[in-house]
Amino acid sequence: MIRMESLREQLIDRIKTLQILPTLDGVVEKLFSILDDKDSSFRDLNDVIKYDQAISSKVISIANSAYYSRGVEILSLQRAMITIGYEEVKNIVTCMLFVENILKELKLRPDLLMELWKHSVHVACAARVLAGRIFTEDPQKVFTVALLHDIGKVILYMVVRDAYSELVRDAVSKGKSLNKVEIARFGTDHEELGYILSVKWRFPEEFTQVIKHHHDGAVLEKYQPLLKLVRAADRFSTASTHDADPEAFILLKEREEIMKEVQKIMNFFQLNGHETN
Ligand SMILES: [Fe+2]
Ligand SMILES: [Fe+2]
Repeated sequence: MIRMESLREQLIDRIKTLQILPTLDGVVEKLFSILDDKDSSFRDLNDVIKYDQAISSKVISIANSAYYSRGVEILSLQRAMITIGYEEVKNIVTCMLFVENILKELKLRPDLLMELWKHSVHVACAARVLAGRIFTEDPQKVFTVALLHDIGKVILYMVVRDAYSELVRDAVSKGKSLNKVEIARFGTDHEELGYILSVKWRFPEEFTQVIKHHHDGAVLEKYQPLLKLVRAADRFSTASTHDADPEAFILLKEREEIMKEVQKIMNFFQLNGHETN
């Protein structure tokens, strides 16, 4: 018992000492608030990312990719954003922040990074498509929070590495609740760690609440619609059998579109992730 308690402390301490996003300073925080605000404009986003070379050049290269190219080479950020479309650029920037500024910055091992990245993109795309059908929440916000819902796993992948990866696979294949297994083993779970991390990084409150409760479901009434979308998408991406609620039905029906979106994002980031299910 004492050992487990110290493991929990060790994991939480790791969050406290975690340093990321050193290069971008205030840019990331500003970006998250633009991405989260459905009244933000094309110009707001342009004003922030034009100063960031990595993001600008990625957006331009995606505008020139086979998905959007109309045979005319695109050289400016503004042109690229018009070609891709505002909502789509927001998705790309969100993914970039997640991959470049969180996953890569924390130096996760490539296979572990890929494991988490694939699951996160799958849930994000499914949740966004679902939000587009149900109309309870802004699909863009849903995409962002769904992409980040398992952020607490980053800490476990960093500190416990292989043993954690094995534990995840074992829990999924045996249909066990991952959180219960984590608590039994580490005295904490990826919900609690994700919550502490998201508060440290000053994510909006509804994000921190969804991250904290995406398995136990215990959020305040006002966050329920958002949580419901993320939970349905999360179950859809991991379960082989599907429940009977309307969300699961919609997701199943839209499966092809969701997989196309997932593949597109994977290609954009050239992380060569092939969904197997
Ligand atoms: Fe989770
Ligand atoms: Fe998940």
